[in-house]
Amino acid sequence: MSISKPDSSKGNFQRTIEQRLQIQRLLEPILIVASSTGTDVVKGLTQTPKTLPPRYFYDDRGSDLFEQICELPEYYLTRTETKILQSCASEIAAITGACEIVELGSGSSTKTRILLDAYQQQGLPLHYLPIDVSAGMLESSALSLLADYLSLQVYALAGTYELALSQIEPSQLPSRMICFIGSTLGNLNPQECDVFLSQVKAALQVGEYFLLGVDLQKPKHILEAAYNDNQGVTAAFNLNMLEHLNWRFQGNFDTTQFEHWAFYNEVEHQIEMHLKSKRSQTVELHTLKLNVHFEPGETIRTEISRKFSLNSIQQELKAKNLVPQKVWTDENQLFGLLLCQLQDRG
Ligand SMILES: C[S@@+](CC[C@H](N)C(=O)[O-])C[C@H]1O[C@@H](n2cnc3c(N)ncnc32)[C@H](O)[C@@H]1O
Repeated sequence: MSISKPDSSKGNFQRTIEQRLQIQRLLEPILIVASSTGTDVVKGLTQTPKTLPPRYFYDDRGSDLFEQICELPEYYLTRTETKILQSCASEIAAITGACEIVELGSGSSTKTRILLDAYQQQGLPLHYLPIDVSAGMLESSALSLLADYLSLQVYALAGTYELALSQIEPSQLPSRMICFIGSTLGNLNPQECDVFLSQVKAALQVGEYFLLGVDLQKPKHILEAAYNDNQGVTAAFNLNMLEHLNWRFQGNFDTTQFEHWAFYNEVEHQIEMHLKSKRSQTVELHTLKLNVHFEPGETIRTEISRKFSLNSIQQELKAKNLVPQKVWTDENQLFGLLLCQLQDRG
């Protein structure tokens, strides 16, 4: 990965940034697998109903659109989680003490700043391991953090957190906290969630921490508004997945012939985002040697976003010996933040 050349006018300070930054690309094996065989895309588009993995939302444009979604008036998730973090970050730092902060799907790392501020104020060392599939976003966020936190060390991993979790080495600090905020856990179905929590457990030593942000169950109209904003940013984010596939697999999806569709499935307690075909059409993904036919109204499910109850998620975590030490929520119980500790390997 190329790291931006330092601005020589900033002299020592920029050299210090380079010394404090390491970026390792775990992405190659995934790209090689995905672009030569495209297994996950082929599997998703040849099954009924059709699906695509949500990580294909995140090329550089997708990451930018996600940042815009976070600012939307209807999208309460980011605002609410930010407020919760602001109210409890010093408590988190006091509980964990010196620890390496690992963030899965770190994106812009905006909320992470709240944690870094709290650790800094308590005079604790700042070691941060962001992991994200969007390499451009990972690099720009890391550089921006390093410019603002002069004692920060960043060891960034570009790739999937599934792969990264199996590869990260033990913490150099007395403890580690794996953060999975932004309600990304909700994108995993119950089986994937179970596997994921086992991977988190395997990446922690007994006594280390897992910080989890989850969106909570609430009335349908609030949820559906959050995924169907008036400005159409979520629709653009959803449709951008097709552009991403066109670029990655030499495809010919015509994004004007699909529409965004999001609804709350009250039985499964999940928002489902789909792309709905406006007509009968066949799309080619050249490098995958794949032709996919769509009937009018047929959909591709691009994301689930599960909504949790605090009780059930705590039970799931406890079943993995990730025992909640503290649970915070906002005054309207929209969002939950749980600090768990691995109590034994069981
Ligand atoms: C919903 S955003 C959340 C970003 C940030 N954690 C927040 O709270 O605002 C999800 C992030 O996870 C990344 N991502 C999605 N799937 C991933 C995967 N399998 N491995 C690593 N990163 C992933 C995306 O690139 C994106 O930056």
